[in-house]
Amino acid sequence: MYRILKRQRLAEGTYDFWIEAPEVAQHTRPGQFLVVRVHDRGERIPLTIADAQDDKVRIVVKAVGKTTYELCSRKKGDELADVVGPLGRPSEIDRFGRVLLVGGGVGIAAIYPIARELKRVGNHVTVILGGRTAEQVIMRDEFGFADRVLITTDDGSLGIKGVVTDAMKQVLDSDEVDVAWAIGPTIMMKFCALLARERDLKIWTSLNPIMVDGTGMCGACRVSVDGKIKFACVDGPEFDGRFVDWDELLKRLTIYREEEQKSLQRYLEKVGDMTWL
Ligand SMILES: Cc1cc2nc3c(=O)[nH]c(=O)nc-3n(C[C@H](O)[C@H](O)[C@H](O)COP(=O)(O)OP(=O)(O)OC[C@H]3O[C@@H](n4cnc5c(N)ncnc54)[C@H](O)[C@@H]3O)c2cc1C
Ligand code: FES
Repeated sequence: MYRILKRQRLAEGTYDFWIEAPEVAQHTRPGQFLVVRVHDRGERIPLTIADAQDDKVRIVVKAVGKTTYELCSRKKGDELADVVGPLGRPSEIDRFGRVLLVGGGVGIAAIYPIARELKRVGNHVTVILGGRTAEQVIMRDEFGFADRVLITTDDGSLGIKGVVTDAMKQVLDSDEVDVAWAIGPTIMMKFCALLARERDLKIWTSLNPIMVDGTGMCGACRVSVDGKIKFACVDGPEFDGRFVDWDELLKRLTIYREEEQKSLQRYLEKVGDMTWL
């Protein structure tokens, strides 16, 4: 069993957990993920490893459906049924020169370990953090190591009023960037990738198709990259966004929408009030 050592609310519906998982923590590298089962009858969901220290790993979870609601309801001291990982290929870390990392919403947690490692090996690191509101720009105090941090909010409550691509344009118009990362909602990654393609800039994006086993066997996470079929769990999750078939990915993400909504509805009817989330 995997004990929750710490749980903190970061924003409405978004929780930060440290979980005891010594074997996973020792082998984790930036860019990798876990497959978690909350209880022994639960489904398996993929979650990025936001950090790892000694015998524990950190995940940041946004409640969007039944399983993420269940997970966010768990408290310090509770145990999770399974934590499998680290899975996926680690991020390509090197001394590139000047790097740009764009994180949107819960994707901010995913760029955090990559940005920190890129800084540690000697890159000049610019970070763009975006959220709908100031509250949704999570973990912003943790990016003190970066050379430059820009914030965007849809409602203008913090930083630049606009979306992350507005800030990305500003940076690319004024700075040299050797390589970029963008992690967040699929639609955000698509637009960051289109901009990077215009500017001939390599941009790593972490794809989030539905996953089941997370080990390359079920085929659920199939994506098309540069005209070739890839499995995001073993070939990725990071791919050069300039070559991803974004429209196919966006379409595949909606396949089970009706079932997902019914499942969440049934769960909410069973548990009652979740307004605290
Ligand atoms: C490699 C990888 C890393 C991820 N890392 C994180 C993370 O660090 N934190 C986090 O909160 N989430 C992360 N996700 C997304 C997370 O796995 C999904 O939100 C979760 O599986 C939804 O399960 P659910 O039962 O709560 O919702 P569901 O009922 O399955 O889905 C509810 C809604 O969420 C959407 N959804 C379902 N699966 C995904 C998905 N994979 N990505 C985006 N939207 C989805 C559905 O289209 C639907 O609208 C990651 C996904 C992948 C593939
Ligand atoms: S999740 Fe099954 S092949 Fe990737």
